[in-house]
Amino acid sequence: MRCCFAPMEGITGKRYREVHAAFYPGIDRYCLPFLTPTEAHRLTPQQVRELDPGPLDRARLLPQVLTKSADDFVWFASVLAELGYSEVNLNLGCPSGTVVSKGKGAGLLRDPDALRRFLDEIFLRSPLPISVKTRIGLESESEFGPILALLCAYPLRALCIHPRTRRELYTGSVHLHAFARAAETAPFPLCYNGNLFTPASVHRIEEAFPGLQSVMLGRGMLADPALVVRCRGGSRSRETLLAFHEALSGRCLADLHPNQAVLPKFKELWLWLSLLFPDDGTWKRMKKCRTWTEFYPLTQRLLRDAPMLPEADFSRLGQSPVQP
Ligand SMILES: Cc1cc2nc3c(=O)[nH]c(=O)nc-3n(C[C@H](O)[C@H](O)[C@H](O)COP(=O)(O)O)c2cc1C
Repeated sequence: MRCCFAPMEGITGKRYREVHAAFYPGIDRYCLPFLTPTEAHRLTPQQVRELDPGPLDRARLLPQVLTKSADDFVWFASVLAELGYSEVNLNLGCPSGTVVSKGKGAGLLRDPDALRRFLDEIFLRSPLPISVKTRIGLESESEFGPILALLCAYPLRALCIHPRTRRELYTGSVHLHAFARAAETAPFPLCYNGNLFTPASVHRIEEAFPGLQSVMLGRGMLADPALVVRCRGGSRSRETLLAFHEALSGRCLADLHPNQAVLPKFKELWLWLSLLFPDDGTWKRMKKCRTWTEFYPLTQRLLRDAPMLPEADFSRLGQSPVQP
């Protein structure tokens, strides 16, 4: 089974993925957090940096585009082709209010006719094969039938499904029946994404869908960066987690302001990483820190001294791993 690291805007950018890949083997592909083409059709300095593959082979990176404009998509795909990428991923899932109100991300699922016109153009003109990451609808699971039928009419390189609606954001349980429907009918390789927080949940999905090409792991990997290693029969080690955290913070501190940039980034990361440790009040204190100097010793307290839970405790956020 191929394992893909989910794109997570604000967290799994270039620094995170390069440090992760250096410490934790087993991810076949890192999907880049969405990139939005500029109207001027020029990459921003941040996009240039993000698309620099660094030590990773480009084949292990999957750039993702967020747009509703076929011209912008095709321009971006051409740039990716020039840079040596071999596939472009279309975001049909972003649930954020500002994105959806502009008709992008999951907002593209609102109007099937407009989506068809968009897909007609990009599949005709894209210089690169296109894969899609989608939700199953905006408001209700019942929207998925027509969406799936529409997608099945195009030669997708692959389809990754997060079986929730836009309304559900990342909460509640996933709709495995909707995914099962896709597994029965889709003529292209499928990737399952959603609430794979433990090796057991990954194995359950593998058993339930034997024809599956890949799984995409998101929050489970942020909470336990060794999840992929454990899915492949290895184990988690405190020393590796410490070294990973040290390398990631070192890399961020070398480039960014400790309090204005590194601290907020690490608070986002620790929202998930804290689930790996018993809730002893440290994370509550970490959230209140105003400086990196206050924050860092609390990370060390958990990483060095606190017991590690066998599995990250997602129930604290009202989530549970998939159980088909
Ligand atoms: C903070 C955050 C940022 C995300 N950014 C993106 C993104 O840039 N592109 C995308 O397709 N999905 C994005 N997602 C969705 C994840 O890729 C994934 O679909 C979602 O977390 C469900 O998978 P999981 O249950 O394994 O976490 C984001 C999710 C979170 C929580």
